[in-house]
Amino acid sequence: MSVLIAPSILSADFANLQRDVEMINRSQADWFHVDVMDGVFVPNISFGFPVIKAVKKYAKKPLDVHIMIVDPDKFIKEFKEVGASLLTVHYEACKHLHRTVHAIKDAGMMAGVAINPHTSANLLEDIIADLDLINVMSVNPGFGGQKFIPLTLKKTETLKNMILQKNSKAKIEIDGGVDLNNAADLIKSGADVLVAGNTVFSSSDPEATISKLKNSSK
Ligand code: DX5
Ligand code: ZN
Repeated sequence: MSVLIAPSILSADFANLQRDVEMINRSQADWFHVDVMDGVFVPNISFGFPVIKAVKKYAKKPLDVHIMIVDPDKFIKEFKEVGASLLTVHYEACKHLHRTVHAIKDAGMMAGVAINPHTSANLLEDIIADLDLINVMSVNPGFGGQKFIPLTLKKTETLKNMILQKNSKAKIEIDGGVDLNNAADLIKSGADVLVAGNTVFSSSDPEATISKLKNSSK
């Protein structure tokens, strides 16, 4: 299967959100990556439910919602209601990760877990079989347009082996600093989904850039 591309709307033009959502609809992208930040878990605030609802109104592809918030359990139902197909929480934000993952599934969404650059892949060993997605943060979360952290490649390989060993169906998503130079190496290491914000939206032809990312392993 070819790699999935999830443009991050964090880098979209919020004054022209409908235009950018429709560009993603037309493009070869597979998902919308939606970053929610609370100013507590990460040093930035992005947007919340009204903006996700607005995206959902025009989006013709699934919403992959990545929540960088403390206490994610509080809002699982609300994320389902505004249209998330997949909900990813942070390993570092959950006291009872197993409970949270199952609450997401019980609410009717696919469940993902994100790990920060300092968090070892090995910590996912006992939850990986229950996951639909692992988001490997390749920057410290909080901002778009940061520089890719190279240890991500090795971590992706470790996770790929763990997935095979544990018979997990989890996809590996790489999030942060993905560009046309590192995409092929990431795919080779085992990435199934590439998130791209800055690379897509700062490009002069975002649709063509999505297509280049999508075809970067070929
Ligand atoms: C960072 C977010 C990312 C971000 C990626 O905290 O989780 O999804 O939007 O943006 P780029 O691709 O610009 O690094
Ligand atoms: Zn993200």
